[in-house]
Amino acid sequence: MDQLNDIEKAALDALASVVTEEALQAWKTAQLGRSSPLMQVFAGLGKLSKEERPAVGSAANRVKVAIEAALAARETEIKAAALAKSLEEDALDVTLPGRTVNVGRLHPSTQQLRRVLDILKEMGFQVYTSREVETDEMNFQMLNFPLHHPARDMQDSFYVESEGRGDNPILMRTHTSPGQIRAMREYAATNPQNPPPIRIALPGMCFRYEQITSRSEMQFNQVEGLAVGEGITFADLKGTLSDFARRMFGQNARTRFRADHFPFTEPSAEMDVECFVCGGKGCSVCKRSGWLEILGCGMVHPVVLQNGGYDPKRYSGFAWGMGPERQLMLRYKIDDIRYFWGNDVRFLEQF
Ligand code: DAH
Repeated sequence: MDQLNDIEKAALDALASVVTEEALQAWKTAQLGRSSPLMQVFAGLGKLSKEERPAVGSAANRVKVAIEAALAARETEIKAAALAKSLEEDALDVTLPGRTVNVGRLHPSTQQLRRVLDILKEMGFQVYTSREVETDEMNFQMLNFPLHHPARDMQDSFYVESEGRGDNPILMRTHTSPGQIRAMREYAATNPQNPPPIRIALPGMCFRYEQITSRSEMQFNQVEGLAVGEGITFADLKGTLSDFARRMFGQNARTRFRADHFPFTEPSAEMDVECFVCGGKGCSVCKRSGWLEILGCGMVHPVVLQNGGYDPKRYSGFAWGMGPERQLMLRYKIDDIRYFWGNDVRFLEQF
């Protein structure tokens, strides 16, 4: 009986230091396995006398039940501890901020191009896209820039091909104006005796062989406008472009026209809009003048109408050209045009 008490005590003492499942298995084998001291007692019961046997047998059973109960209790504890540990280690912190998803967006120039075209479409202009690679004839000669004329110096060109092409090399268009000739010819071809009226907007990229500085780039967008019909006057030009300015810059936007010169318009003008940064009071954006130059315009030159297939005795028209990047620079006070094609996402992301 003493031996059984010792077995129980030793088993429970040993269990106190068991903390892993592997150690518990080893402890179980040592305490309840076939060669364990307790099982030796059961095995030796047969050698006891009939009188001793029931008391020792029931005592041994009590010890076995106690050891098994201790085993079950410790097993539960170890499993609970393992679960708690894994929950803690694999925990998701649902309060952490999520990863930002970068959403793509349109280039600011494209956005502004679309704003301009949306307004012009509302005003009844149709979008006409013309080619970026042009001939000297279309880009200059048909627009009343004679060969070797000094006005060409304003628009130095990138030449694509000049070998064997004499006075008509191929170049990257320096402005969207050659689209005027192409559009007029296409419209006139539908009815050469009675060409139909035209009201179009010509958007697109232009290229100039320029020294790149904060103020000039070798590529930029333009939106050209052209209206041709019978009885169109300078009043139509002023009304249309002032209305455009109000739709683009706000209903209170005031405009003014200053005389200028372009070979393909006569008379020619530049349109200013009252500075929308300072409201006309004078600031750094408008260089204290209160006005911002927005576009060049004029009545289509008779020679240009003729080149397009429209009889200048019967038809007249007006045209203009403006730059979306320039409008953005004024609107957002961007002081360097190189940001537009520099592909720096820190700039592009802001629009
Ligand atoms: N093509 C001119 C330029 O790039 C802009 C321009 C001025 C276009 C007057 C026009 C116009 O249609 O009438 O500098």
